[in-house]
Amino acid sequence: MATRHTQPRRQPSRKGSMADIPKDLLQEIKRLEDLFTVDTAKLKSITSHFQSELAKGLSKEGGSIPMNPTWCMGFPTGHETGTFLALDMGGTNLRVCEINLPEEKGEFDIIQSKYRMPEELKTGTADELWGYIADCLQQFIEYHHEGEKLDKLPLGFTFSYPATQDFIDHGVLQRWTKGFDIDGVEGKDVVPPFEAALEERGVPIKLTALINDTTGTLIASAYTDSEMRIGCIFGTGCNAAYMEHCGDIPKLEHMKLDPNQEIAINCEWGAFDNEHKILPRTQYDIIIDKDSPRPGQQSFEKMVAGLYLGELFRLVLLDLHEVAHVKIFEGQDVSSLKKPYSLDASFLSDIENDPFENLSETHDRFEKALGIKCTKPELELIRRLAELIGTRSARLSACGVAAICLKKNYKTCHVGADGSVFNKYPHFKARGAQALKEILDWDKGRDGKALGKGHDPVEILPAEDGSGVGAALIAALTLKRVQEGKVMGIRDPEGMLKGTKAADPKSKEVAPESKK
Ligand code: BGC
Repeated sequence: MATRHTQPRRQPSRKGSMADIPKDLLQEIKRLEDLFTVDTAKLKSITSHFQSELAKGLSKEGGSIPMNPTWCMGFPTGHETGTFLALDMGGTNLRVCEINLPEEKGEFDIIQSKYRMPEELKTGTADELWGYIADCLQQFIEYHHEGEKLDKLPLGFTFSYPATQDFIDHGVLQRWTKGFDIDGVEGKDVVPPFEAALEERGVPIKLTALINDTTGTLIASAYTDSEMRIGCIFGTGCNAAYMEHCGDIPKLEHMKLDPNQEIAINCEWGAFDNEHKILPRTQYDIIIDKDSPRPGQQSFEKMVAGLYLGELFRLVLLDLHEVAHVKIFEGQDVSSLKKPYSLDASFLSDIENDPFENLSETHDRFEKALGIKCTKPELELIRRLAELIGTRSARLSACGVAAICLKKNYKTCHVGADGSVFNKYPHFKARGAQALKEILDWDKGRDGKALGKGHDPVEILPAEDGSGVGAALIAALTLKRVQEGKVMGIRDPEGMLKGTKAADPKSKEVAPESKK
């Protein structure tokens, strides 16, 4: 039976027409194309530098990419069992989950609640932060376990900021990223104040693992896909984690670990090229960095991550209005456009998603959000600029993935990815795949098939829920190690067993609100 298409097939890019654009505006578009386009040769040289920086981060001297060992030792088998709590402290929300890993391989049940992270908290005090988080956990437990006498529940805490870990239940915040700026947390272990806040409220929880969202993504994806080798986040921030052999981590040499033992490395690759040796930074990238709460940090992240895409776009438009000889939005009130961070990545997504050749949706969006009425040539420029910024982000992001593959000599593998940019930004996946092909010189896919979905040697796929299932799995793996007496990289193994109902799935029924 013939299939009937109810929707037109989506084109990778619209045709667009530059026919009636004045010459000086065309020149401006050309200038932007030159500024933001990263060609194959540049992608390759960035990747090669990236690869050596990954190695430098693992060396005793260290480099700007932190390459933090996480003490998450090895992949799950799919046979992990038990009930765990997971907490994800995101930029906008705080999510608390209770996850049951049943006997069936690769399955899980989850119940979850979401709490808003008040904006003021991001720049408030440490006490306010930990108090708020503990309150949310308390609420969750009271709601879901009303009147029950509870053992302590083991918790996997997804703390998605660069933290150095001497143990899995420990983490010294190196620096805040993604616009957070809370005094008195950087340079300190975040676990004791978090546990103290729980203690104060008598919340029956034992922190079992402090994890990064990328490690959670890697482990959750590997739970259901044995080809998974890398976990990535392309969202408000960007980063990746992968498994490294202890024998290939010179900075851990003094610990005399089994060289064949695998340990997840949280790369913190947002810090790539903090010394500005290779990335093609534009004047706009420089302004973003200068005006950020942590200038000089997260150079790579500031060029590719969701938090900054809208701001880059805003800065270019403002520059074209004010400084450049070609004045766009002439005679219009641009005061809304002057507000820093007033446009987020979804604004760019919407522009790239505008299905109409005359860009009528973009026109309306500008008028509604910014009170600016765009001319047809301005709309063409706006659309092209969004494409350029979105494409640069995807192509530079691919350099990080390619660098890990080259470092580990992975000819084929799956990469699990999560985050708003990966999931929602139009064409991000296709542009990333195209860049990987250029960097890694693929001419055909797996098994000699044509390149494309399902056949590309390295594929970046939507990940399983890393900060939920991933955090629970890492808590489960940690408890299993404690039970087996393998306590390397665990600070408080005794505390984890004492009073913690570790792992019997049959001991308690969890109502499956959603099951994947
Ligand atoms: C943080 C990482 C995190 C990434 C994605 C970055 O800003 O430093 O720890 O994995 O954002 O959330």
